[in-house]
Amino acid sequence: MLNKIKALKQEIESATAVTQDELEQYRLHFISKKGELTNLFQELKNIPTDKKREFGQALNEIKQLAQSKFRDLVSDLERKKSIPAGTDADLTLPAYDPVGSVHPITATRNRIIEIFKRIGFNVADGPEIEDDWHNFTALNFPPDHPAREMQDTFFIEKNPDILLRTHTSNVQIRLMKKQKPPIRAIMPGRVFRNEAISARAHCIFHQVEGLYVDENVSFKDLKATLFYFAKEMFGKSTKIRFRPSYFPFTEPSAEIDISCFICGGSGCNICKYTGWVEIAGSGMVHPNVLENCDTDSGKFTGFAFGMGIERIAMLKYQIKDLRLFTENDIRFLQQFKTMI
Ligand code: DAH
Repeated sequence: MLNKIKALKQEIESATAVTQDELEQYRLHFISKKGELTNLFQELKNIPTDKKREFGQALNEIKQLAQSKFRDLVSDLERKKSIPAGTDADLTLPAYDPVGSVHPITATRNRIIEIFKRIGFNVADGPEIEDDWHNFTALNFPPDHPAREMQDTFFIEKNPDILLRTHTSNVQIRLMKKQKPPIRAIMPGRVFRNEAISARAHCIFHQVEGLYVDENVSFKDLKATLFYFAKEMFGKSTKIRFRPSYFPFTEPSAEIDISCFICGGSGCNICKYTGWVEIAGSGMVHPNVLENCDTDSGKFTGFAFGMGIERIAMLKYQIKDLRLFTENDIRFLQQFKTMI
């Protein structure tokens, strides 16, 4: 008897019902009045009295198992019936708000493009998988520059000459190689760095590069262009300042700060009580870079800049954690619904 109970238990556990017929088979076989369980209950009367209790209990457990399995099979079958053939969609899940929204990174990128387009910048694009020359060498990185080291750059193991671009500056090179000045373009895109993910860092993020090369382009043009951008992006009362800095591909180089648009410069936790927040790196294109791209550095000059799209979005919308951009939490994303 015990063996029979065990065998029946296994049978119930492994039973499936893909069709209505199979479901009916299951019902007949296990739980109907003429089913296996009823048979076993009838055998109970042949069991010695002192064992009856033990067997009765085991049988009752199996009965419950058989019934709950039946309920599971019924609901599985109902669910499957509601899915159109050939799809994996589970139409029984509750509907979510079907109106999507533009991701804040896309919205910020679109806004940046729109502002620069108004003052004559085209949009250019370049590869995310790049070679050392376009990502570093042509941009005047000395061979031993720390940014080339393994901790920053994702190199392709089989061919260390190939890497995931660490910035969008590679597109400057590609553009100058294929187009003669005047060049006035912005270059948005994804970039990759070997960084641990935290509230302030991610291994994938977005930048917008800017490049203007022509005769007589000066630092004054750089200042006026970025000042215009800052006012359009962050509000008319925004001020900017240039802090001397270093990039191998620009000389002179500067970091661009804007006056904190939250506190207006008086100091708050967004600007860490300095009154200023950094938005971009910039400078005059280094003559070596122009020459590397067959552009006559005696005739042409240019300015370039690069900014992080996440950073601009975080400042503008006061987003405190970079991870929110990639977690796809609908509560976060829905806040940007009205944006385009
Ligand atoms: N490529 C730099 C970075 O990723 C940003 C940058 C700085 C770009 C100065 C520029 C520039 O074009 O002129 O940190």
